[in-house]
Amino acid sequence: MRNRKYIGYLWVPLILAMALGLMAMNGPSTVVKKDKSNLPALAALPAPPVPADNKQTPEKVELGKLLFFDARLGGDVSIACGDCHNPTIGWQDGADICRGYPGTSHWRNCQTIINAAYLDKLFWVGAARSLEAQGRSAARGGVAGNGEDDLMEERLRQIPEYIKRFKEVFGTERPEGMDAWRAIAAFERTLVQRDTPFDKYKLGDKNAMSEDAVKGMKIFEGKGNCTQCHNGPMLTDQKYYNLGVPENLVFEEDALKQITFRFEQYAKGVPEEVYRKTKTDLGLYYRSKRDVDMGKFRTPSLRYLVYTPPYMHNGNFWSLEEVVDFYDQGGDEDQIAKGFGHSTKTDLLKPLGLTDDEKAQLVAFLESLSGEEILMDIPVLPAYGVDRGDGLKVENAQ
Ligand code: HEC
Ligand code: HEC
Repeated sequence: MRNRKYIGYLWVPLILAMALGLMAMNGPSTVVKKDKSNLPALAALPAPPVPADNKQTPEKVELGKLLFFDARLGGDVSIACGDCHNPTIGWQDGADICRGYPGTSHWRNCQTIINAAYLDKLFWVGAARSLEAQGRSAARGGVAGNGEDDLMEERLRQIPEYIKRFKEVFGTERPEGMDAWRAIAAFERTLVQRDTPFDKYKLGDKNAMSEDAVKGMKIFEGKGNCTQCHNGPMLTDQKYYNLGVPENLVFEEDALKQITFRFEQYAKGVPEEVYRKTKTDLGLYYRSKRDVDMGKFRTPSLRYLVYTPPYMHNGNFWSLEEVVDFYDQGGDEDQIAKGFGHSTKTDLLKPLGLTDDEKAQLVAFLESLSGEEILMDIPVLPAYGVDRGDGLKVENAQ
């Protein structure tokens, strides 16, 4: 009897260890509520990180700027990075769901590239890990640039001004495709905003933020529970959540968007049974193929927001007031539960019970995260000067 009891106690640590192991294996989705005291503090934005193998130089940035606005880095030379990431529309395109390559539509909201330099999980579901990798995938993607690597490279090699500039910057005899993405990334690293009222306040200028905005910041960190996910200098933890953002009905009304939506299911290797049930963007699931990741999107930064409506991955909210109302009611219905019978909605959202004043203060705080608008003239692009190989040059304007 005594022995059996002794053996019985031995199970206790064993079961505990197994439970802990299981929690670790399943990752963050099973972890209980986060401890607020460990969250990175809201803070002024430091200088952007620069990778050791792609140093910033003024010549590289200038070349990257030209390439960013040059539609020859794309399939049918009709759409440049700068067309979707338009400087006069907050460096995005202002639509709920982004425009696409001619004959297609994109299927998600276009993100601003202001401050993208600080992110190491790019796109709504973190599909690219560096600006260098992101640029290439944007220019090649079927519904964005639809460009073919060798063809884009050859175009650059037939533009004398680019031949000269690539040689200056990268020391190559002829432009190399990969270097184009390096130059564009260097240009994007200059598109940062570090002098917002919020940054100035955090650096000691206590008058930089209005009284309302300061009160809003307290709500953001306290009653609003926003810092659970929007924290650190960029106001994002770069993790993935399903908030229950309502469906954007445009997918059911616009043939091109429905085509793209269906095409993306195949392109991303969705199994037949999931494809049949899918009416909504499954977000992180496309990368992991785990049911628990359905409908999850990366927490976005909240900087430069004033210039970048509409909001969310499907552009369903047109104002910050709408976003705050959405959070005040604890998010909305889980689209995943509707279609698949299991919920992936985060339990970090609860009805907040904010008063009208508190909502207005929260909006004032969100506004203080944007400074002056960053505008830029679109540069004049260099012309082709095709060398036929027999000494004759063929020139034209584009
Ligand atoms: C057809 C419009 C379109 C074109 C052209 C385009 N983009 Fe985008 N861009 C988007 C959309 C839409 C997203 C979000 C896509 C997603 O998450 O699936 C995005 C996302 C990004 C992001 C990520 C920002 C973040 O917060 O994670 C960067 C950086 C970016 N684009 C840079 C570029 C560059 C550089 C080019 C040119 C090589 C380019 N884009 C061309 C529409 C476009
Ligand atoms: C559970 C994590 C989480 C919490 C808590 C949270 N957010 Fe978010 N926030 C996100 C995610 C994820 C998105 C993108 C969701 C999507 O598109 O489906 C987002 C999007 C936003 C956007 C839109 C940004 C854009 O560029 O489209 C705003 C504004 C915002 N949140 C503000 C807030 C405020 C204010 C609070 C507190 C009341 C808050 N958030 C609480 C994770 C969170």
